Amino acid sequence: MTSEGTAEELHSAEAPTLRTGDNLYPVELKMTFGDEELSIDVPEGVWNPTPHGIHLGHVLSKMDFGGQEILELGTGCGIHAVLLARRGASKMVLTEINQEILDLAKHNLDRHDVTIPVRYDVADWTQVEGGPFDLLITNPPFTKSGKRYRRYFIDTLILDTHKLVKPGGSLVFIQSSMADIPRSIRLMEENGMTVEVLGETDGPFRPYYFDDPVYLREMASIPGSYTVRDGVHHERLIVLRGRLNG
Ligand SMILES: C[S@@+](CC[C@H](N)C(=O)[O-])C[C@H]1O[C@@H](n2cnc3c(N)ncnc32)[C@H](O)[C@@H]1O
Repeated sequence: MTSEGTAEELHSAEAPTLRTGDNLYPVELKMTFGDEELSIDVPEGVWNPTPHGIHLGHVLSKMDFGGQEILELGTGCGIHAVLLARRGASKMVLTEINQEILDLAKHNLDRHDVTIPVRYDVADWTQVEGGPFDLLITNPPFTKSGKRYRRYFIDTLILDTHKLVKPGGSLVFIQSSMADIPRSIRLMEENGMTVEVLGETDGPFRPYYFDDPVYLREMASIPGSYTVRDGVHHERLIVLRGRLNG
């Protein structure tokens, strides 16, 4: 298990003065992940990597994806796709909700000299053509999932893994304690996966959490979803791997 950076380090990767409630403000993210130095453009309207995405990046930067065919759902600015390619991926399919975001991801992959075959697909979450893949990776929407059932993207991800991943292949994703970690692990096991924790960190709430009273009420009903230390609310961020049993 790894623990990466303090909350302050994670947040200094962003532009605090520009933070808005929708997390879609522009920024140029310059960060080191393991041996990899990245410089990612994120224009207005594209999801700005949060401590969740940053922590997932740190975990990926220590892994070997040699020869693997990988599907990333909701690639956003492409930060994880760059790392997957740098760590040996042989082929990738990257998805998003619209072509503009995919064009931006391609811009960032080109900027980092990614030369492996990459397909960029507009696709609604797990409704993806092709596969099965060696690895399915994602930082799924949760806080701002836009669904009445907030865990929609996490649950459908786990339920549909068997359609997208080869037997013996893996699902890797990050989630917060706010999204109920024991519930995800149970669902993964019920769906034939052997579950492992690849990395864990802890950090203060994003400012926009406090904009949504329904979210805060839901979180209060999940045991262990957050802790309050010195008056500051903290969540745990955990990277889970589920290996699909053959
Ligand atoms: C939490 S963000 C993660 C973005 C990026 N992977 C990162 O870590 O910074 C979730 C991403 O999923 C995308 N998304 C939302 N709904 C989706 C859907 N139905 N199908 C595919 N992607 C979706 C969003 O546009 C957003 O880029």
